[in-house]
Amino acid sequence: MAVIEKSFVIDECRIEDLDRVIEINRLCLPENYPRYFFEDLLLKFPKAFLVARVNGEVVAYVMCRIELGFSDFSFMKIVKKGHIVSIAVLPEHRRKGIGTELMVKCMENMKKFYGVQEYYLEVRVTNVPAIKLYKKLGFKVVRVLSRYYRDGCDAFQMARKVDENE
Ligand code: ACO
Ligand code: ZN
Repeated sequence: MAVIEKSFVIDECRIEDLDRVIEINRLCLPENYPRYFFEDLLLKFPKAFLVARVNGEVVAYVMCRIELGFSDFSFMKIVKKGHIVSIAVLPEHRRKGIGTELMVKCMENMKKFYGVQEYYLEVRVTNVPAIKLYKKLGFKVVRVLSRYYRDGCDAFQMARKVDENE
């Protein structure tokens, strides 16, 4: 009988994983941050800072921040929001469901451990793979942020409500 095994595991990031996470961020995205930025998110929101491992090696990460802000869905209501700050999967490990699983798990954890009511993120309007991933997960464009990125590219801000039944 053939046993189909998932080839990756999702884990909470550990401090010793950070160098690798920073490397993956630099390889995959033009938005890079100083080390203290990663450390700060890991210290403050450890349940929402996840990595994917293949044969023990980190190949992807997602990191988030919990914020208070105006709801994207209810007028003038202040809510707890789960901000997906950055996600990246190494090129050779893409299209295997790792990005989806990182998103699903970090959203689940932000709801369970930090009590968020909504999720949001920014993405380059040109980043078709990421936009498709977010749309599949129920995110909708709530605004366009003109010249959001340093190179002048616009961003879509995308958001989703927490599904209480999930
Ligand atoms: N072209 C079209 N659709 C795609 C592509 C692609 N190249 N890649 C993913 N998708 C869509 C598909 O709908 C896919 O489902 P399918 O494979 O069943 O068709 C769905 O997304 C889920 O794909 P996964 O395999 O779960 O995603 P993956 O592990 O490849 O990770 C990610 C997606 C994170 C966007 C990856 O491509 C990546 O690291 N890109 C570079 C970094 C990046 O752009 N990060 C997002 C920036 S925005 C932010 O961080 C908030
Ligand atoms: Zn952001």
